[in-house]
Amino acid sequence: MKLPLLLLSFALVACSNDPAPSANSEQAASAAVAALQNSNSASGKTLYAACAACHGASGEGNKALGAPSLTHQQSWYLERQLLGFRAGLRGSHPDDAFGAQMQAIAKTLPDDAAVKSVVAYIDGFKAKPAAATLEGNAKRGADYYSNLCGACHGPAAEGNDKLQAPALAGIEDWYLLQQFDHFGKGIRGNNEADRYGYQMYMMGKTLPDAEVAKDVVVYIQSLAD
Ligand code: HEC
Ligand code: HEC
Repeated sequence: MKLPLLLLSFALVACSNDPAPSANSEQAASAAVAALQNSNSASGKTLYAACAACHGASGEGNKALGAPSLTHQQSWYLERQLLGFRAGLRGSHPDDAFGAQMQAIAKTLPDDAAVKSVVAYIDGFKAKPAAATLEGNAKRGADYYSNLCGACHGPAAEGNDKLQAPALAGIEDWYLLQQFDHFGKGIRGNNEADRYGYQMYMMGKTLPDAEVAKDVVVYIQSLAD
């Protein structure tokens, strides 16, 4: 009976890295969907009221709800992600419970013009970079980052619109690590129709292990200004 027990404990460890949405976040998701369904406003500010419960009044994010800050991503990237959720390219994998929540909300935005106006509103937020929550070997992370990530995300993780690679500096470390892990496991981006997500899915397998991925994220966090 030793083997099944061992497998079970592996499964539990795997789950504990990936917290599922809580009752609170499920409630916030239904409230946001209902608010968007009942709204006939095209104003970015009014639309954003449905987002604030999770992403914060100034886009500062909420770790307990798995919702990242939205203040350091470029607006072309935020728009493309919202369109990707709407098209089902992101948030459709059965293990992507947080992505599924966000997909349902993005699909309730009335149209692509509403996507643009909510992103324009978010673009007006000024926020401090997210605080560090992880510890690791930033020096080792820097080596891996400059060899494997910087060509697309930029030497200061400032992003590169020509390659559609978003800025990473300033976004929460826990969120970056979780997304990287999801790319590596094919939970995000494992669909060739998702052109840019698929590129990152291929990159998700290039770091040797989770410790190195954490080091890279710790280094990225140190670049935030
Ligand atoms: C119920 C909570 C909740 C609400 C309400 C919500 N979001 Fe999200 N959002 C999330 C979560 C959780 C994620 C992370 C998904 C993942 O893990 O892939 C996310 C991710 C995103 C992303 C991707 C960011 C990135 O760096 O890739 C964007 C853009 C976004 N949300 C915009 C919005 C907008 C705009 C609204 C309002 C119309 C909104 N969200 C409402 C929970 C929420
Ligand atoms: C070939 C170019 C390329 C390389 C190299 C690359 N990325 Fe990416 N990365 C992208 C693109 C494009 C996206 C946007 C994916 C999408 O649209 O879903 C992305 C997205 C991400 C995201 C998600 C950010 C968010 O807000 O959701 C993380 C985290 C990330 N990359 C980390 C890394 C790390 C760490 C490395 C190095 C190991 C790396 N990337 C190397 C192109 C690249």
